Amino acid sequence: MSQLQGEIISAGAPSSNLGNYEEAVANFNWEDVEKQFSWYETGRVNLAYEAVDRHVAAGKGGQVALRFSDASRDETYTFAELQALSNQFANVLRSRGISKGDRVFVFMPRSPELYVSVLGIIKVGAVVGPLFEAFMETAVKDRLEDSGAVALVTTEALLPRVKRDELPLLKYVFLVGENIEPADGIIDYYKEMELAPAEAEIEWVNREDGLILHYTSGSTGKPKGVYHVHNAMLQHYYTGKVVLDLKEGDVFWCTADPGWVTGTSYGIFAPWLNGATNVVRGGRFSPGDWYETIQQNKVTVWYSAPTAFRMLMGAGEDIVKGYDLSSLRHVLSVGEPLNPEVVRWGCKVYGHRIHDTWWMTETGAQLICNYPSMPLKPGSMGKPLPGIQAAIIDDNGKVLPPGRMGNLAIRTPWPSMMRLIWNNAPKFEEYFRIPGWYISGDTAYMDEDGYFWFQGRIDDVINSSGERIGPFEVESKLVEHPAVAEAGVIGKPDPTRGEIIKAFISLREGYTPSEQLKAEIARFVKEGLSAHAAPREIEFKEKLPKTRSGKIMRRVLKAWELNLPAGDLSTIED
Ligand code: PRX
Repeated sequence: MSQLQGEIISAGAPSSNLGNYEEAVANFNWEDVEKQFSWYETGRVNLAYEAVDRHVAAGKGGQVALRFSDASRDETYTFAELQALSNQFANVLRSRGISKGDRVFVFMPRSPELYVSVLGIIKVGAVVGPLFEAFMETAVKDRLEDSGAVALVTTEALLPRVKRDELPLLKYVFLVGENIEPADGIIDYYKEMELAPAEAEIEWVNREDGLILHYTSGSTGKPKGVYHVHNAMLQHYYTGKVVLDLKEGDVFWCTADPGWVTGTSYGIFAPWLNGATNVVRGGRFSPGDWYETIQQNKVTVWYSAPTAFRMLMGAGEDIVKGYDLSSLRHVLSVGEPLNPEVVRWGCKVYGHRIHDTWWMTETGAQLICNYPSMPLKPGSMGKPLPGIQAAIIDDNGKVLPPGRMGNLAIRTPWPSMMRLIWNNAPKFEEYFRIPGWYISGDTAYMDEDGYFWFQGRIDDVINSSGERIGPFEVESKLVEHPAVAEAGVIGKPDPTRGEIIKAFISLREGYTPSEQLKAEIARFVKEGLSAHAAPREIEFKEKLPKTRSGKIMRRVLKAWELNLPAGDLSTIED
């Protein structure tokens, strides 16, 4: 057990929305959460209505919903404006026959148009497919193809990465940009928006109807489409209330991109379901710009990731003094293990505890968290959300006692649990192989006080800067390079990014190892797949360790890298 466990930082805010944790757990009931939504009375369900239109109906249409800024734009949208714009986009979609259940993707950098599009798609009952702007050809095609997407919203700059001739089901591309030449299937986004009425019928759906399809990586196979339904809004709303601790008048900033689940569940749904002002900052990370964003918008609640906090820590304390961060009330983190050192630094420099939260694309929303009203143990992910039962179980489903490491598992079901993996029932069932439990793939232990401590992944999934990368996807791209005979990819521990991608490569006959070739291979992945999936380190090897059935043994590569014993080699080829 970790010796860190003794350190406790006392509760920050007893007056938070959750109140006393134990009491909240004892009194919890999902039906009380349902009562917050208009559909509890009307029976008519649509997340976009609850996130936007409901606030307008309640007389809050003039409140600021979105504060957007990047290098070239600085814009504010009220809930009433978002309502009108998303209605317009819903009408644009409808005029093309797009309706309930259709998959419609958004592939663009953060912009107001992205947020409006997501809401419009949801309003017609279609399923949103977010794509990270750094995705290149192969990554984009795999996702559009697997999902059978019928439409895509993108920008002129990103359009060349969409291989339309290889995607027969993709009928429409709504193109955001100036001076667009309409061509077959290419629609001028701004022009259509201008002509579309600002009133629209909302498509009322069933709570179990599709909302969003997030592609994410596993250790084998192509990325999988994790499918969430409207019912997830219960948990988006509730965690927004008790974990983000959102209150009337809050200005919330989630730094994640909507290409990833944090950027939708908490960059769109949770803040707007709670009626908060949502800050969106485009562009790249830079410590000064980030502090400026907090200062300028008077951000009160800030949700970011360990890599970002480590980089901010690396930028030092002095830069912090140049900004007024006094608006901050609550700070949170997600995506990778949050180092105790970073938590201590946050207390010292920001005067705030950084509250770690644990969850996954598959879980749809936060599950294990630190709450403002609860003492915090630096290094621990915290305790299960009220209404959620988490446990450490062995491979047979036996619940293990405190202090024992095992599978981090969650009792099924919960409101925001994924409902399927698109086109892949066997993959879906793997998560639920032990009856009554969802098996996360993470290992952890629980201490005597009920706090959970992350230990690692069971599989080979890589977590670099909080972004989840499947080694198989990277390896598949690597072997497409003419010089590469075989490739094995692992996560190598890194002090800033958590892990970096390292590739071991054996070359084809006729190629000689060189630094130049390494750079060229890395660029090949960057340009074909995506920048975040490109290996930062490459090592050439004569031969890679393989099982007798020809599978590359990443476990052995990792042991080489870390100078550890390679373990059981009974299945190795020679
Ligand atoms: O290994 C865990 C790690 O990120 C994985 C989920 O990645 P993704 O689906 O991309 O979702 C990220 C944001 C929800 C988990 O299986 N992870 C997530 N949060 C934490 C974490 N590892 C340690 N501590 C966390 N708080």
